Amino acid sequence: MFEVIQTAPPDSILGLNDAFQRDTRQQKINLSVGVYKDAAGRTPILKSVKEAERRLLERETTKTYLPIEGSGEFRDLTRNLVLGGIVSSDRVENLQSPGGTGGLRILADFLAKHLPHSRVWVSVPTWDNHTSLFGGAGLQVESYPYLSADKTTLDFNRMINTLSEETKTGDVVLLHACCHNPTGVDPAESQWETIARIMGERGLLPVVDFAYQGFGVDLDADRRGIEILAQHCPEMLIASSFSKNFGLYSERVGAVSVVAADQEAAQAVFSQLKRCIRTNYSNPPRHGGSIVQTVLADAALQSEWRNEVTEMRKRIAAMRKDFVDQMASRQSKRDFSFLLRQKGMFSFSGLTPLQVDRLRSEFGVYIVGSGRINVAGITAENIQLLCDAITAVL
Ligand code: LMR
Repeated sequence: MFEVIQTAPPDSILGLNDAFQRDTRQQKINLSVGVYKDAAGRTPILKSVKEAERRLLERETTKTYLPIEGSGEFRDLTRNLVLGGIVSSDRVENLQSPGGTGGLRILADFLAKHLPHSRVWVSVPTWDNHTSLFGGAGLQVESYPYLSADKTTLDFNRMINTLSEETKTGDVVLLHACCHNPTGVDPAESQWETIARIMGERGLLPVVDFAYQGFGVDLDADRRGIEILAQHCPEMLIASSFSKNFGLYSERVGAVSVVAADQEAAQAVFSQLKRCIRTNYSNPPRHGGSIVQTVLADAALQSEWRNEVTEMRKRIAAMRKDFVDQMASRQSKRDFSFLLRQKGMFSFSGLTPLQVDRLRSEFGVYIVGSGRINVAGITAENIQLLCDAITAVL
């Protein structure tokens, strides 16, 4: 039977990681997948995380199954982290998920089963996996404009025109809470107000991907878009990831938050999400969630973690600045100062697919085909080679 199966193309992001590992060149730089690197080029285990693991090792007494929805304490603590006090807690349910992608997939399955006629609107561009994930669940995926023609700013008017003219009540709009992936371009607060008002007026359901909390402005300010949405939209679904802000990539830990108009609706959605989980992976893995729970439950540990998130954010901002300066000192064909206005791990460089190919084949520099650069992977050690290579292909 397998003779008819065709080989799938490599994943547009993780496939590059594999190709990078296979590349035998001594000099190579991996700025493809969204993974933070410190000044020494390592993806460190945070000190707060190590300490939480030490405590877990001492205190953990069982590896028995978690409930389908995850640990109760984890759910309370992360609800607070994700939503602060934005919505009264009786209107919210929060579930543990295996990473942000796992959470998005649960939401996609839920939507496909219960709101199958909702079309899912995603930004152009968006994280490649969004389209595959919602489409793969059987939903119709549509797109709204996001980036201006020169690929450096938000094309707000075109975005708003599409949302207000082409969507219909009951459609879903996927938004990135902060640090838009892949562009790093976020709406300003006044623009969030307009987006939220239109969503509310038209009866559109926000599904928010919140994968980079703490990498934009700070952990609290980064939920501002969600807060504004909640003022206009009575219902919302959020998929959060703790891969980046806790550095827990391979532990697969995230959360799904449901905001409903009232407690009864929140409970109904919660019960259906549990069914989606049960038929997908039964219940979440424990270890990553226990780490997050241990850090958030202890004031001193939480404060240490907050400082570590700040440190990561500041290093990325410093690398943005160095990159812009280095490029300006090498060439005048393109002004890269727009990178300074972007937020989070990623920037859209505006490099063409041909230039991206040349970077890889001639210089061993791996960035995503769309021209997305993982700024969080730039270090003092690789920046010269990177800027020389980009200058050469421009
Ligand atoms: C990315 O966009 O690189 C990250 O979100 C990792 C992933 O799973 O693609």
